[in-house]
Amino acid sequence: MPAGLRGERVTLRPLEAADVPRLVEIAAEPEVARWWREVTEEDLLAKIGPDADVLAFAVEHDGEVIGLAEASEENEPDYRHAGIDLFLGTAWQGRGLGPDTVRTLARHLVRDRGHHRLTIDPAAANERAVHSYEKVGFKRVGVLRRYERGADGTWQDGLLLDLLAEELD
Ligand SMILES: CC(C)(COP(=O)(O)OP(=O)(O)OC[C@H]1O[C@@H](n2cnc3c(N)ncnc32)[C@H](O)[C@@H]1OP(=O)(O)O)[C@@H](O)C(=O)NCCC(=O)NCCS
Repeated sequence: MPAGLRGERVTLRPLEAADVPRLVEIAAEPEVARWWREVTEEDLLAKIGPDADVLAFAVEHDGEVIGLAEASEENEPDYRHAGIDLFLGTAWQGRGLGPDTVRTLARHLVRDRGHHRLTIDPAAANERAVHSYEKVGFKRVGVLRRYERGADGTWQDGLLLDLLAEELD
């Protein structure tokens, strides 16, 4: 795990226990909770360390923790790829920091971890997220019908986007 991944305006630093209370607060903001399943301290603590299922990073901007970014790697050799997920606090949304975060993590996954293909799968209704990932170069693959259960208990469509290594600037 690298010490920190530098983007243009964000730094991604391996998640630490000290980040967890602030990230739980951010995840509970209505504009984040609307698009992310509930996040508990326990969930986040399980993402820390070498045995975790994901590579998790605290996203920093101007020295402050503003969100979480993570990657899940599929390491079965014939299907190797990595999936990205993230949230930023409400105050930092809509300022280009999401694309900066995704681009920075994507570069790490391609250049340092050798992935040739990345995926991201926001809710199909999350047009802001889709638009911001397209700015990084992700392309729409198609709708994942009734892919995830929403807070109201109903199944919601997802949208699968992917990006090939050579499409990343
Ligand atoms: C999704 C998220 C990561 C995007 O990052 P961001 O920094 O806010 O993204 P941007 O600054 O690029 O702004 C969003 C873009 O979408 C556009 N946009 C906003 N609402 C939109 C809508 N309803 N339809 C289409 N485009 C929209 C904005 O105009 C902007 O594009 P522009 O720069 O071309 O004007 C961030 O908003 C976030 O964390 N949201 C809450 C949690 C979440 O949805 N996570 C994603 C889970 S997959």
